[in-house]
Amino acid sequence: MNNFEPKTFALPHDMLPEDAEGYFKQLEVFREMMMRYQCAILEVQTKLQVLNNDMSVRHSRNPIEFVKTRIKSPKSIAEKLKRNGLEISVGNMVRHLNDVAGVRVVCSFIDDIYEVAHMLARQNDVKVLKVKDYIKEPKENGYRSYHMIIEIPVFFSDKTMNMRVEIQIRTIAMDFWASLEHELRYKKELDWSKEIGEELRECAATINKTDEKMLAIRQHIDEQKNKSE
Ligand code: GTP
Ligand code: MG
Repeated sequence: MNNFEPKTFALPHDMLPEDAEGYFKQLEVFREMMMRYQCAILEVQTKLQVLNNDMSVRHSRNPIEFVKTRIKSPKSIAEKLKRNGLEISVGNMVRHLNDVAGVRVVCSFIDDIYEVAHMLARQNDVKVLKVKDYIKEPKENGYRSYHMIIEIPVFFSDKTMNMRVEIQIRTIAMDFWASLEHELRYKKELDWSKEIGEELRECAATINKTDEKMLAIRQHIDEQKNKSE
């Protein structure tokens, strides 16, 4: 006996059967689209792994510490479309949202960020649609990261689709700051005072100084190694 009862909700009781048919069809289209975004993430993950392996063989070090991926939740998708004054539909999601598929690349050093970004951008099947360099120009609150929106072809059984993926590239230190700032920002019960903002900006500056120092140390070691070879 099957006791499984899916958690569900009823459609409006006055919905016409032909509208319900369209609704169910859209659910299918939505699921299929989310699967396609997931595949686009897989493609990007593979590209990053290839780059990291190649770099580790040729330069004996890994520029990428780790990679995190996420698919935007249905709730966030609906909220963002609504916020942008758009009707909530699968078509509008595909047309207007760049961050349904998200990949976060956490690098060891600042120069690794640009190297990874450059190595991705020069691949023939990668089309860079947008770049925001919040490292050269940090946000007012201190946020630093390198953002790219790329489009890559994904080969499915029936067709090839150009899929958009948002890539955020940052150092471990930048990731540490951004993760905690994000967590704090969503503690709504807290009064987000000016002082807190100022303190976070200071933390971001300290973290950046450390990032730059670590890079200088590594470059110094690289030079010594090159001399002795
Ligand atoms: P959204 O509409 O928020 O997705 O962003 P946008 O189109 O203005 O793009 P942007 O490149 O500025 O930001 C994209 C993503 O970067 C966000 O969804 C966050 O994940 C991250 N991000 C941007 N600004 C901040 C920030 O101040 N703090 C943290 N923690 N993350 C940020
Ligand atoms: Mg976003």
